[in-house]
Amino acid sequence: MFERMHASQVFTSSEGKEVELRGWVARKHRVGKVAFLILRDGTGYVQVSAKSEKVGENTFHSLSSLTLESAVIVRGRVVSDKRAPGGKEVSMEELEVVSLAEKWPITKSAVKSASFLYDMRHLSIRGPKAIATIKLRAEIIRAAFSYFTSKGYTLISAPTFVQAAVEGGATLFEVDYFGKKAYLSQSAQFYEEAALPALERVWIFQPAFRAEKSKTSKHLTEFWMIEAEQAFSDQSENMKVQEELLKFVFESVVANRQEELRILGRKLKDFSLPIPRITYDEARNIASKKGIEFKWGDDIPTEAERLLSLSMDTPFFITDYPLSARSFYHMTYSERPDVTISSDLIAPEGYGELATGGQRIHDYNALLNRIREQKLNEESFRWYLELRKYGMPPHSGFGIGVERTTRWIAGLKHIRAASLFPRTVSRISP
Ligand code: 4AD
Ligand code: MG
Repeated sequence: MFERMHASQVFTSSEGKEVELRGWVARKHRVGKVAFLILRDGTGYVQVSAKSEKVGENTFHSLSSLTLESAVIVRGRVVSDKRAPGGKEVSMEELEVVSLAEKWPITKSAVKSASFLYDMRHLSIRGPKAIATIKLRAEIIRAAFSYFTSKGYTLISAPTFVQAAVEGGATLFEVDYFGKKAYLSQSAQFYEEAALPALERVWIFQPAFRAEKSKTSKHLTEFWMIEAEQAFSDQSENMKVQEELLKFVFESVVANRQEELRILGRKLKDFSLPIPRITYDEARNIASKKGIEFKWGDDIPTEAERLLSLSMDTPFFITDYPLSARSFYHMTYSERPDVTISSDLIAPEGYGELATGGQRIHDYNALLNRIREQKLNEESFRWYLELRKYGMPPHSGFGIGVERTTRWIAGLKHIRAASLFPRTVSRISP
């Protein structure tokens, strides 16, 4: 009796065990009278060997016309072989070709640019690095679920059709909502804030949309964000949650995804808590020493952030951003009304910003004044403001980009590799 198994289970199976594998032909070669397949399934790769005397002339012959990426069922016995990757392989006895693939179009000579691989993303996601990256991303998300659950946060969801900008009007995607103007959500933060009096600590994991015209290695137009918001919480507690989450995610990846890190050639450097904190003013001085000047009040330019990030070997916070570089809802210091109680969490090695967070204005009049000062449309923030009339305590929160985090953990040049089907300024297909 052949027992249904996955590739990874072969390596812990006993010699002679009869197994059935279902998967895809990732590689194929032949040495004399023995054909070798590298079979891939959702758990990894395993070598299958086929000897003509064992499988019979017909099957052996059909192996020669078996194309890469065909879906097959293989039955055979587990054998130990020092030459096989992982020390074990399956010696084929039966082969069923479930779906014979056409000639695989992604060949060395066909790949003329990285963009070709993304045009072919529906197929190229089968490559080992793409698979490893998606598994790392999944581990990051799994760890976040586990972290927030253990800390008593409730997972919520929020609409993605919205009527107001959370992070400024410049990056809104407009949609026609039955003749009315609506937008795709930039962040679920306002809905989290509304949920606080009901749930006290909430988190969310869903897509966010930004009409970012910049073609950079860290911007997607659609990405996934993990956001968290806490009632009765100040910014120092908020930063503690962020660094704890990051550390927990980091440790989960290191504990559970060594094989994927190996495939990606990624060596991660551990870090300890608390992570370093520098202020915006300090960051500006450091950037200036590195030759990049920018006006106090401007957002930290990408290149300055990259140099700061390159100079660190641990994640760190930049705190106290000028109000002019932040969205309207930020609380400011009473003694420095132009400086927000906020932070960016920055990854080392040049990867840059992972998260943004801060203390929110919880007082009705203070928020109304801010909205008026910034000449924003009061009506579109009506319910957000009204929350402040009905028991809004001091609260804080943050949002961390899932693909940004994956990019850092996996060591990817470009953020698009962190997404199964990336959306950028120039890409909306496949
Ligand atoms: O810094 P952002 O814009 O902050 C907010 O949206 C807050 N409302 C979050 C909150 O406090 N609840 O976005 C948060 C994070 C960024 O730090 C970054 O990691 C990621 O989302 N992000 C992007 N990731 C990929 N492509 C883009 N265009 C991104 N824009 C932001
Ligand atoms: Mg930000």
